[in-house]
Amino acid sequence: MESLRGSVTGSITSKLSGFTILLLFLLSCSTFTSTEAYDALDPNGNITIKWDIMSWTPDGYVAVVTIFNFQQYRHIQAPGWTLGWTWAKKEVIWSMMGGQTTEQGDCSKYKGNIPHCCKKDPTVVDLLPGTPYNQQIENCCKGGVISSWAQDPTTALSSFQLSVGAAGTTNKTVRVPKNFTLKAPGPGYTCGPAKVGKPTKFITSDKRRVTQAMMTWNVTCTYSQFLAQKTPTCCVSLSSFNNETTVSCPTCACGCQNNGTESGSCIKNALPEINNSSSTGSRD
Ligand SMILES: *[C@@H]1O[C@H](CO)[C@@H](O)[C@H](O)[C@H]1NC(C)=O
Ligand SMILES: *[C@@H]1O[C@H](CO)[C@@H](O)[C@H](O)[C@H]1NC(C)=O
Ligand SMILES: *[C@@H]1O[C@H](CO)[C@@H](O)[C@H](O)[C@H]1NC(C)=O
Ligand SMILES: *[C@@H]1O[C@H](CO)[C@@H](O)[C@H](O)[C@H]1NC(C)=O
Ligand SMILES: *[C@@H]1O[C@H](CO)[C@@H](O)[C@H](O)[C@H]1NC(C)=O
Ligand SMILES: *[C@@H]1O[C@H](CO)[C@@H](O)[C@H](O)[C@H]1NC(C)=O
Ligand SMILES: *[C@@H]1O[C@H](CO)[C@@H](O)[C@H](O)[C@H]1NC(C)=O
Ligand SMILES: *[C@@H]1O[C@H](CO)[C@@H](O)[C@H](O)[C@H]1NC(C)=O
Repeated sequence: MESLRGSVTGSITSKLSGFTILLLFLLSCSTFTSTEAYDALDPNGNITIKWDIMSWTPDGYVAVVTIFNFQQYRHIQAPGWTLGWTWAKKEVIWSMMGGQTTEQGDCSKYKGNIPHCCKKDPTVVDLLPGTPYNQQIENCCKGGVISSWAQDPTTALSSFQLSVGAAGTTNKTVRVPKNFTLKAPGPGYTCGPAKVGKPTKFITSDKRRVTQAMMTWNVTCTYSQFLAQKTPTCCVSLSSFNNETTVSCPTCACGCQNNGTESGSCIKNALPEINNSSSTGSRD
């Protein structure tokens, strides 16, 4: 079997006689080099992650983290969001409610009270529905599923609470975490740096009193299709073979990559009608 690849575009008409050689034409090719986070369908959509420090503790703070899905159409489906960051200092997470880290990390230097997570770069996921009430907070525990803003703004958010130790205990000494990553659930989101802003104000349920956070910062993540498709390049595979089995192409063809990691699974479907001489051509 021999194959040659090139940037052939246009259509091929094969008039090859008999049954010995078949021409296989796999899709046209273009390479997207842009990695800018931009979603043409919803250019102003974003996911904003807000950290509100609710109180100080002897060695750190208690924060409520809320993920708002401000995207019009793109919801976050099962298995849900995964949020990661890198601590600026040697912070640990003593405990969490409404969420958990996926790994505890090395807490061996702690005796007695063992932190929930000692990793420098914790990864947090939502808890599942049906979590005991004493581990829940408001807007948590939906298995990481968040609807889109257009679907229902009241459910387009998800929260968890964490108690952070070995951190600063004033708004001057707290260092904001760095390097936020969001998977929702696949790749595609790019998060900016955390920006400290005005403390959030909370209105009590009877609307008679307003309280406010000790300190608030926001992180904004935007979606890009270019990032979502791990290998946005396509290839043209022009092969001759005399067997029904297909020639593999290293990347999936354009337009059939909506299924993330399953590269290669689409190649068979992308085959043109090879027994009909007039139907070969490129698809985008
Ligand atoms: C994110 O979207 C919200 C709602 O549309 C908007 O108010 C906010 O300014 C956006 N944030 C950024 C950084 O674009
Ligand atoms: C920190 O707190 C002081 C007063 O307690 C306030 O004036 C200042 O704006 C706060 N800084 C931040 C970044 O919130
Ligand atoms: C941020 O994350 C990326 C990828 O995980 C890593 O390569 C980079 O070193 C990190 N930067 C910092 C400052 O931690
Ligand atoms: C964080 O984002 C929310 C939603 O866009 C906004 O209401 C709030 O003012 C922002 N807070 C800060 C500190 O930027
Ligand atoms: C086609 O290729 C497959 C796998 O390489 C092989 O098992 C099969 O016998 C071949 N068929 C013919 C007709 O050569
Ligand atoms: C993606 O692939 C999985 C496993 O092959 C399949 O169950 C699922 O239906 C596919 N989804 C789409 C949108 O093609
Ligand atoms: C191609 O060949 C297959 C099997 O012989 C047949 O089922 C199919 O209809 C043919 N397609 C065309 C477009 O001729
Ligand atoms: C091949 O395709 C042409 C145009 O689509 C159609 O008219 C013709 O009937 C097809 N031939 C076979 C054998 O299916």
